[in-house]
Amino acid sequence: MANILDAKFIKEYCATAANMYRLGWDERNGGNISYLLTEKEVKEYLDTDKVERIIPLGFDAKELVGKYFLVSGTGKYFKNFVGDPENNIGIIRIAKNGTDAELLWGYKDGGKFTSELPAHLMSHIARLKADPLNRVVMHTHPTNLLAMTYVHELDTVKFTHTLWQMNTECIVVFPDGVEVLPWMLCGTNEIGEATAAKIGACRTVIWSMHGIYCGGHDLDETFGLVETIEKAAQIYMMTAPIGLKNIITDDQLKLLAGRFNLTYRDGIIK
Ligand code: 13P
Ligand code: ZN
Repeated sequence: MANILDAKFIKEYCATAANMYRLGWDERNGGNISYLLTEKEVKEYLDTDKVERIIPLGFDAKELVGKYFLVSGTGKYFKNFVGDPENNIGIIRIAKNGTDAELLWGYKDGGKFTSELPAHLMSHIARLKADPLNRVVMHTHPTNLLAMTYVHELDTVKFTHTLWQMNTECIVVFPDGVEVLPWMLCGTNEIGEATAAKIGACRTVIWSMHGIYCGGHDLDETFGLVETIEKAAQIYMMTAPIGLKNIITDDQLKLLAGRFNLTYRDGIIK
């Protein structure tokens, strides 16, 4: 059996986490990533009959029974994933009862999956219903986006409109806009349910004064979505205090939508 440390999904996952850390999005243990793996992918590296540990989920994920996820460990630092994957990340399978996780690899030091697993798994359920190709849910704390949630109205329509105006490519990358949740207690089933209720129709949910949740087909694409939103927030934070002399107008956003043949979110542009 091939060495799992050579698996493309492990290498890509750790490289993505390193990039997120390098950009300052994931201070200390901030952020978490879950990546849906196929059984075929896992079987290349692991004996899937060999369960290392059973870890209770704390909620019912029956819609995901039998599915495999690569998930970051709680309290683990993104900067350390590359050098020591086995202690920092793990591969779980959702057990038949829907309420336990079967640990197949990782969390070697006795650790467990992220405290945000409810939000991740509930988001996967919602995303898969909307888009069967969704494999990644990414949570991170991008600096400028967080700053923006302190100074901008926490309104989904207004927040999306502002972000679309901050960089010509924004409406092309996230035509579905962003959903904004008020501050909520993290690590709970409640914030998971609130996130999942939004993330089906819209791939991005902003947790005010905390961070962002994004769904995507693969790690690169999901990273790119966060990166684009964070850059728009950076431009907002750079320009708002000075005062804007120029802006991308609604008519220009419509031109972009026409040029790229976009189905964009209703109610944002007048
Ligand atoms: P974990 O260390 O449990 O993944 O939590 C980090 C975080 O970002 C909480 O929202
Ligand atoms: Zn967080």
